[in-house]
Amino acid sequence: MNIDSAQQLDPDLFTRPEQTTYFDCAQCALPLRSVESELRGAVHHWYRPSGESSEEVRSLFGTLIGASADDIALTPSTTRGIATISQLTRLAPGQRVVMMANEHPSQVLGWLELCRACGAEPIFVRKPLNGDWTSALVAALSQETAVVCFAPCHWCDGTFVNSAAVAAQARKVGAQVVIDGTQAIGALPFDVAEIAPDFVVASGYKWLLGPAGLGYLYVHPRHQSARPAENGWNNRIPADDTSLWHDGRLIYPEGYARGARRFDAAGVAKSLLPRLAIAGLRQLLLWTPSRIHEHLQRWNSALAASLPPQWICTPDPRHGHTHILGIDLGANAPAIAAQLGTRGIEVSIRGPTLRLSPHFWNTEADLTLLRESLDTALRQLNRTSY
Ligand SMILES: Cc1ncc(COP(=O)(O)O)c(C=O)c1O
Repeated sequence: MNIDSAQQLDPDLFTRPEQTTYFDCAQCALPLRSVESELRGAVHHWYRPSGESSEEVRSLFGTLIGASADDIALTPSTTRGIATISQLTRLAPGQRVVMMANEHPSQVLGWLELCRACGAEPIFVRKPLNGDWTSALVAALSQETAVVCFAPCHWCDGTFVNSAAVAAQARKVGAQVVIDGTQAIGALPFDVAEIAPDFVVASGYKWLLGPAGLGYLYVHPRHQSARPAENGWNNRIPADDTSLWHDGRLIYPEGYARGARRFDAAGVAKSLLPRLAIAGLRQLLLWTPSRIHEHLQRWNSALAASLPPQWICTPDPRHGHTHILGIDLGANAPAIAAQLGTRGIEVSIRGPTLRLSPHFWNTEADLTLLRESLDTALRQLNRTSY
């Protein structure tokens, strides 16, 4: 693959399923062809695990979010990332953990457990009617807030949250900032230098175009000397960084691996997954998140403009119209999705919301098919308001 062709928005860079028009990157990305060929070659590395791929993947993900490789731990999932963070977090009775309403269970459940164990209070901030979730989150932070955990883009309807604004207010009240970037990083610009979060988690199989089973945990340097819950031969290092054996005796090392590596979930760094994630991250850096976002936002805005505004979950383009478009169809959502399915169009349903999340595997013809099929399906349901 030469650089010029890699920068093109060429749907053939992906392997697309036959007779399916796929609008569900928020569920799982389609594989890049470059990832597929890496997958075929991966067997040659089966019995020779190398640390090189995990270092490269840390560095590429770090570049994507403006961090260094030293700040990135490897995890299998957001669930594990949140578990690691909550294990490092102390809550006093009566303190609060502020979250967005209806956020993903993998992001929320770990905090609910911690709150239960510590007598702290989980607070869920609902999306206001005007769609300005940023202001609602900022207003919910107080001296009692110990943690705010949120997403830059809501997983169900794509509502945008200004991470820097929420983080700035959190700092004023002394709260820790935890961001779930699973539905954002790779699809919009995200810079830890600007936002200054304490922790960022992201699962890798959606907008990061990588395999399921590999995720990332950014740890701000101020937390990198905390003691991790896991201790094994990959995150503990001998004092001289060379051997576990001295004079024929096994040494159990006292020291930890550098930076955020001490928080790696055991087994991930030496698996084949980092090798598979590299091609996706390299491709994103060639395209650049701002270009990806501009493009996907344009598609979703055009689609939103073809529908009655009252059906768009977040109609104000200042707060919605991201790379994810949510259409509120109430109880009709499953029927409409099923109708689209008869024409080979794959989307997700999240409660009353039909969720559309295209990516560069989609063509203009896909968008036309979606628009026409949606129109037909809605008319068949006799929505007179349409
Ligand atoms: C916001 C968000 N966080 C996390 C996840 C996935 O979490 P995990 O990697 O623990 O399966 C998803 C999946 O849809 C998601 O939308």
